[in-house]
Amino acid sequence: MLTRHLLKQASTCRHFLLNSKTSSPLLTKSLLFSSSSSSSPESQSPTTTFVDDKVTDQYPSSTSISIDRSDLYNPPDHSHEPTSESELVKHLKGIIKFRGGPISVAEYMEEVLTNPKFGFYISRDVFGTEGDFITSPEVSQMFGEMVGVWAMCLWEQMGRPKQVNLVELGPGRGTLMADLLRGASKFKSFTESLRVHLVECSPTLQKLQHHNLKCLDEDDNGDGVEKRTISTLAGTLVSWHALLEQVPSGLPSIIIAHEFYDALPVHQFQRASRGWCEKMVDVSEDSMFRFVLSPQPTPATLYLMKRCKWAAPEEIEKLSHIEVCPKAMDLTHAIADRISCDGGGALIIDYGLNGVVSDSLQAIRKHKFINILDNPGSADLSAYVDFASIRHTAEEVSANISVHGPITQSQFLGALGINFRVESLLQNCTDEQADSLRTGYWRLVGEGEAPFWEGPDEQVPIGMGTRYLAMAIVNTKQGVPVPFQ
Ligand SMILES: C[S@@+](CC[C@H](N)C(=O)[O-])C[C@H]1O[C@@H](n2cnc3c(N)ncnc32)[C@H](O)[C@@H]1O
Repeated sequence: MLTRHLLKQASTCRHFLLNSKTSSPLLTKSLLFSSSSSSSPESQSPTTTFVDDKVTDQYPSSTSISIDRSDLYNPPDHSHEPTSESELVKHLKGIIKFRGGPISVAEYMEEVLTNPKFGFYISRDVFGTEGDFITSPEVSQMFGEMVGVWAMCLWEQMGRPKQVNLVELGPGRGTLMADLLRGASKFKSFTESLRVHLVECSPTLQKLQHHNLKCLDEDDNGDGVEKRTISTLAGTLVSWHALLEQVPSGLPSIIIAHEFYDALPVHQFQRASRGWCEKMVDVSEDSMFRFVLSPQPTPATLYLMKRCKWAAPEEIEKLSHIEVCPKAMDLTHAIADRISCDGGGALIIDYGLNGVVSDSLQAIRKHKFINILDNPGSADLSAYVDFASIRHTAEEVSANISVHGPITQSQFLGALGINFRVESLLQNCTDEQADSLRTGYWRLVGEGEAPFWEGPDEQVPIGMGTRYLAMAIVNTKQGVPVPFQ
C-alpha cells in the first residue's frame, strides 16, 4: 500500500530531462562489457536526469565514458607501459623500500583508492567527464526511489520512530540519496524523522554530494553552536563523516551501502606447493611493480582461515586463488553491532557472490581493463563482494541480528514496485523519454542484452539485474524486511 502510494505520488511531481545519443550535449557514453560482447568505446547509452529549474547546476553534465563493471573478470597479462612516476607511485615505492619488503595487495588497494593525498577517489569526480564507470543510481532515478521505498517500509516496520539516522556509505555523487529524498519528500512524518549521515572519504565527492542534495549551510553565528546543513530536497539535516564509527549512535539506523563493499581492500591468496601464500606487491630490479608470494604466513592468513571455516571443504578444494576482505568483516561487525544496540537495518547492494571469491580484483581506467599494477591511482580497483562472509560475520555479532538474502537486484527492485513506477512514468512522457526509461529500466533489472533494442548492436543496453545482489541485515525486532519475506 505504502509502496503504491509513494509511486503514485512520486510520478506526479517529477519532470525528466532525458539524455540520449540524440540529445547532446547531455550525452553519456557508456561502454558495457559482457561475457559475450566486446563493445566499442564509442558505445552510447541514454540516461535519465532530473530537471531542476530553480538551481543552476554548478557541475554541468557533459560527455563521459562509463563502464558497467558488473561482469568484468580476469584482467589481461601485465603490461609495463613506460609512464612518468606519479606521486602515488613514488609513495608506494617509498613504503615498500622503507619496510624493506613487499606490501599486501590490500594495502596497495587501500593506498591506490583512498590515500588522503593521491587516492583515486580523493580529488576528482570519477563518475563525471573523466569518469571510469557508471553505477545504478546514475543509470536511473528509479534506483534511488526504490531504495527509498525500502527505507520507508523498514521505518514503518520499526514503528515509525520520531528520529532515525539514515546513513549512506560511499555516496559517490549523492545521486541515490537525492533521488531517495525527492521521492520521499511528500511523506513528511518519514522525512522529518531523518538525520542523514554520509560516510565519504573524498573531500571532492563530499562537495558534489552537498551540491546534489541541494544543501544549505546555516549561518555560523559565532555562538559556538555547531552550524547545521539542511538538504532542501526534503528539509533533512545532513552531515558528513569519514568513518561509520563517527556517526552518532543512540538512534535507530537505516544504513545503505551501494557499491561500497567492492571498494574495500582485499587480500589475495594463491595455492602453492607449500600451501596458501599471500600475494604481495613488490618493486622489481627494473623499478616496476610486480607480484610476489609471501614466503611464510602473513597476519591476514588468520582471516583466510576464518573464511575457510565458513565454507565447505569441497568449495575450497577446487580453488587455486582466494580473496578475503578483513575490512568488509570489520565493517559488517560495526553495522551489526550498531543495529543490534540501536535498532534498524542495513541494505547492501553490490556485485559479488554468495560464496568464497577467488580472483576477482579488477582495475578499470576510462573504458578499459588495465593491469592492477599499471599506473596506480589512475584507475578504479574493485573486487567481488563475498556475501556469505557478510552473513557469517553479522550473525556472529548478536542473536538479535538477522540476515536476509542475497537476492538479485532484479528481484529486489521488482518486489518493491519498479514495474509500477516505470509504467506510471511512461504514461506521461515523450517518445524519446520513453526510450530512455525503458533503457534505464532494462539496465537495472534485465539480464543480458535488451530484447527491445533497435539501435546499433554495439550500443545495446546490458542488464545488471542478476549480476548485482541485495542483502539486508536487521534487528530481529523489525521482523523480516520487505521484500526479503
Ligand atoms: C564505487 S563508488 C560508489 C558510489 C555510489 N554508492 C554509487 O553507487 O554511485 C565508492 C564510493 O565509496 C567512497 N569510498 C571508498 N572507500 C571509502 C572508504 N574507505 N571510506 C569512505 N568512503 C569510501 C568513494 O569515495 C565513493 O564515493
